Amino acid sequence: MSDTKAKPIRLGLVGLGKIARDQHLPAIALTDDIELVAVASRNATLEGVACFPTIDALLASDVEVDAISLCTPPQGRRAQVAAAIAAGKHVMIEKPPGASTSEIPPLAALAEQAGVTLFATWHSRYAPAVEPARKWLAERTIRSVLVQWKEDVRHWHPGQDWIWEPGGFGVFDPAINALSIVTRILPRPFALESATLDVPSNRDQPVAAELSFTDTIGTPIRAELDFLQTGPQSWDIHVDTDNGMLTLSGGGKLMTHNGRVMLDAHEAEYRGLYRQFVSLVGRGESDVDISPLAHVADAFMLGRRRTVAPFDWNPA
Ligand SMILES: NC(=O)c1ccc[n+]([C@@H]2O[C@H](COP(=O)([O-])OP(=O)(O)OC[C@H]3O[C@@H](n4cnc5c(N)ncnc54)[C@H](OP(=O)(O)O)[C@@H]3O)[C@@H](O)[C@H]2O)c1
Repeated sequence: MSDTKAKPIRLGLVGLGKIARDQHLPAIALTDDIELVAVASRNATLEGVACFPTIDALLASDVEVDAISLCTPPQGRRAQVAAAIAAGKHVMIEKPPGASTSEIPPLAALAEQAGVTLFATWHSRYAPAVEPARKWLAERTIRSVLVQWKEDVRHWHPGQDWIWEPGGFGVFDPAINALSIVTRILPRPFALESATLDVPSNRDQPVAAELSFTDTIGTPIRAELDFLQTGPQSWDIHVDTDNGMLTLSGGGKLMTHNGRVMLDAHEAEYRGLYRQFVSLVGRGESDVDISPLAHVADAFMLGRRRTVAPFDWNPA
């Protein structure tokens, strides 16, 4: 891999669905050091690059790729990551990095043995207000935290049945983005104390949840999650401090202090992800943090389940 800095990284993208088209393809096009050369998707193709139905067909072909970017659902990622690493490819994974917490560390070990980069991405950590918030909070006393992550699944995830299957996480598919931010901006680790999960009677994954955490000195951290929010959508984190209320809104685009705007920046999360991938490959390093996924797993372990109304994509 000594020439990866000189030549662009030849990339194969796997899973040409919503996030691949909305974010990955535009970000890749803007990244000089990455060249998209192949796509693997069972039902979709892309003009101008080599197309395959599966990652295995791509890896077995004579199309040369240096790296794989996985944009498939979390179920089934483990085998895809393992196959890419076994073929000597660097790997970038959409969030969440897997469908279980225990599948990730062995993959990180395999990547290390193979001398390739494994980048388990958390795109929300690349939102513009995240690092400024982390630095601001490092100098304050935090009294409490409230996360409100409420979006309309029918609008943002139309027809994505995998989200309601085991390993799809239901409302935690978006909420893990909030957890990826709070695990980054808060100065101390925290752990779940209790949770309530609302599970539609015809589905396997929660449609809403309430979570109560405390950090290592007892600071309360609450989260309100909803997948049926119509009207204004909420991707907000409120941190009450000894110096007023810091709020991140819009998933980390906007930062306010006591209602006054401190930062309102253009979102470029996926450009940041691909820049980081290029940098990791260049330095021969990996970046794998499963702490947001561990909090979701804890919610499934500790959560009290309530059965709620059935969920249908097209309600009567
Ligand atoms: N949608 C968002 O707003 C968003 C934002 C950030 C991150 N993400 C993450 O990105 C990943 C993909 O999400 P997405 O929204 O792009 O999903 P999606 O629209 O369903 O796309 C995923 C693609 O993966 C392929 N795939 C391979 N195996 C599959 C399987 N067993 N079931 C369903 N599809 C399969 C499908 O293409 P083929 O049928 O052609 O194989 C599908 O189009 C998820 O981990 C999600 O959390 C999503």
